[in-house]
Amino acid sequence: MALRDTASLLVGLLALLHTWGALADVEVNMEDKVEVFSQGTAQITCMFKSAEGIGGMNIQWFYAKHSGSKDKQRIYFQDSIVKTVDKGTPFTDRISMNGTGATEAVVLTISNVQLRDEGEFICIIRSLTEGAGEGRTKLMVFAVPDDPTIEGVQTGVSVNEPNPSKIGSCEVRKGYPKPNITWYKNNTPLRNSPGVEVSSFTTTESSGLYSVRSELRMMVKKDDKDAEFYCEVTYFVPGATMMKETAHINVTVYYPPTAVNIWVESPKGKIKEGDTIELHCTDNGNSPSSVITITHLKDDISWETNEKLLENVTRHDSGEYACTSEDMNTFDDISSNITVFVNYLDPAVVRPKDTVVVDKGDDLTATCNALSSLQTFPEWSKNGHRVSDAHTLILKNATFDMAGTYSCVVTVRDIEGMKTSGELRVHVQGAPEIIKKDSTEIVTFEEAVELSCHVRGYPSPTITWTTSDGKVIKSASETETEEGTQSVVSVKVASNITAYCNASNEHGTDVVTFKIKVKTTLHTTTQATTTTTITTISSATVVTETANPPKQIVKETNGFVIAIIIIFILLLAILGSVLYFLYKKGKICGRSGKQDLSKERSSKDNIVVEMKSDNTEDAILLGVNGEKQPPNDQ
Ligand SMILES: *[C@@H]1O[C@H](CO)[C@@H](O)[C@H](O)[C@H]1NC(C)=O
Ligand SMILES: *[C@@H]1O[C@H](CO)[C@@H](O)[C@H](O)[C@H]1NC(C)=O
Ligand SMILES: *[C@@H]1O[C@H](CO)[C@@H](O)[C@H](O)[C@H]1NC(C)=O
Repeated sequence: MALRDTASLLVGLLALLHTWGALADVEVNMEDKVEVFSQGTAQITCMFKSAEGIGGMNIQWFYAKHSGSKDKQRIYFQDSIVKTVDKGTPFTDRISMNGTGATEAVVLTISNVQLRDEGEFICIIRSLTEGAGEGRTKLMVFAVPDDPTIEGVQTGVSVNEPNPSKIGSCEVRKGYPKPNITWYKNNTPLRNSPGVEVSSFTTTESSGLYSVRSELRMMVKKDDKDAEFYCEVTYFVPGATMMKETAHINVTVYYPPTAVNIWVESPKGKIKEGDTIELHCTDNGNSPSSVITITHLKDDISWETNEKLLENVTRHDSGEYACTSEDMNTFDDISSNITVFVNYLDPAVVRPKDTVVVDKGDDLTATCNALSSLQTFPEWSKNGHRVSDAHTLILKNATFDMAGTYSCVVTVRDIEGMKTSGELRVHVQGAPEIIKKDSTEIVTFEEAVELSCHVRGYPSPTITWTTSDGKVIKSASETETEEGTQSVVSVKVASNITAYCNASNEHGTDVVTFKIKVKTTLHTTTQATTTTTITTISSATVVTETANPPKQIVKETNGFVIAIIIIFILLLAILGSVLYFLYKKGKICGRSGKQDLSKERSSKDNIVVEMKSDNTEDAILLGVNGEKQPPNDQ
């Protein structure tokens, strides 16, 4: 403050020197203006040059609202005797004066400066001898406005509006002197011009402060959707001009589309029947009055949506789809089309249908086809093996091997999972043919054997089982197989027999002969290990003699044992005869003779068992001493 006062003083002095001599009597000089913030303190310096000094003069201060006005009011008086602040003026309580001529300058201090204080302060110096002099200083008061505010339109503006649309308004409050508002769009100031209207309204508050409101209207273009708008406020402060900016705002700009785009969002790639198609459409505008419609032109069906799901489509959904964007205000429309193609694959058609009978030795031609919008690839297969990859299946010189079920799969390679299939059952007609005729010589230890007869031929042959003695054996089970019929019988075998499997149909007969040899095991006091071997063999249904080496061992063992037994019996007989002879003579006591007799009896028992045993199971259960043990004990 002190520095500024001194500066003011110096400026004043320079001015004084410059205009020295212009005034008639007392020379007075003052600054043109003093600038001060509202509520601050102003100091107005009045300088004078006089030979008399302050003692011989009086000083008066006047205030005039308007510069140059004659209508002025005295606010202060001082002479060599009194110093008076005039009563009843707006300044009465707020002014003081100092300086006593020593410096040839006096300073009027105004505290708590008000806006209404703005005006001219006049200093009049009157000398008794040199007359009077007068100077004037303009007091300028400043108030810094509040931060400016901005408000954009909330609704959005359309490029179609015929008149400039309101973009927003800015306001700055309580400034003095009046602040200015300037609108900016992307850092370029906007002034009234064709298509741009800036209007401002000023209000004066009772305190004298100004509030300014400015409104921007303009014709918007599509580019303005990205534009940033803001206001800049300029206002004066003592000795300077200041600026403040508002926040930057965006406005929503609505513009009509210039193009629409329709596409199949999914599936990507080729479409097949059963798919769900997702059609999407967008336009490049953003106008809220635009309505998007998707239309299937062929059926003339429309949906007011920009995303349409067509579920489980068929070939009838193929065709052109249009997307239209229409402005409901102007009825301008714009559209674009897309062609959708739904591929199809009809069920496979196999000819002949379902089942076909072909004579053995004849040829057969079958076809398999499926109608499709794409190229199809047929494939014939039987039992999982590919037999043809053409539409036609040709069987030349049909054999029973060719009989069976053929399946045909038609695929479309362009679209994954697109296939259809059909079946054809082929019967090869001819006389029965019995397969697997090998194991017809059968050797068994069992009471019964299972015989199986597998026959091919069509019509399905009737299978009868007979034995050599003319008996008919009832079949246990008859199974239809892919190739023909399988019949199984169970034959009781008491002795060697021959069985026939006789298969016949209208085209002929085939017979297979089974020769069954029954082996009866001779049971003796065999070792436990040997017994086990027999068990194993016995459990086999069909045994050929050459196929089982352990049996040979059994046979040899049996012969050897029998020989020993016979020798033993003979020895016993001889011994018996000798003992009997000695007994008759009375030379040996009866006790030892008893012992020998019991031994003989047990040997005899053994022989009896062997003779009657034609049951293998029982033989196994016999103990070494020939006593029967219950099967549970084993
Ligand atoms: C406001 O604008 C007016 C007219 O253009 C100008 O005279 C005045 O100096 C401006 N005020 C500010 C604070 O810039
Ligand atoms: C105005 O919009 C532009 C472009 O969309 C964006 O980059 C910017 O951040 C937005 N400014 C404001 C103040 O919202
Ligand atoms: C098999 O059956 C056919 C027809 O029933 C008959 O003519 C034929 O003699 C039989 N053959 C035998 C070996 O039993």
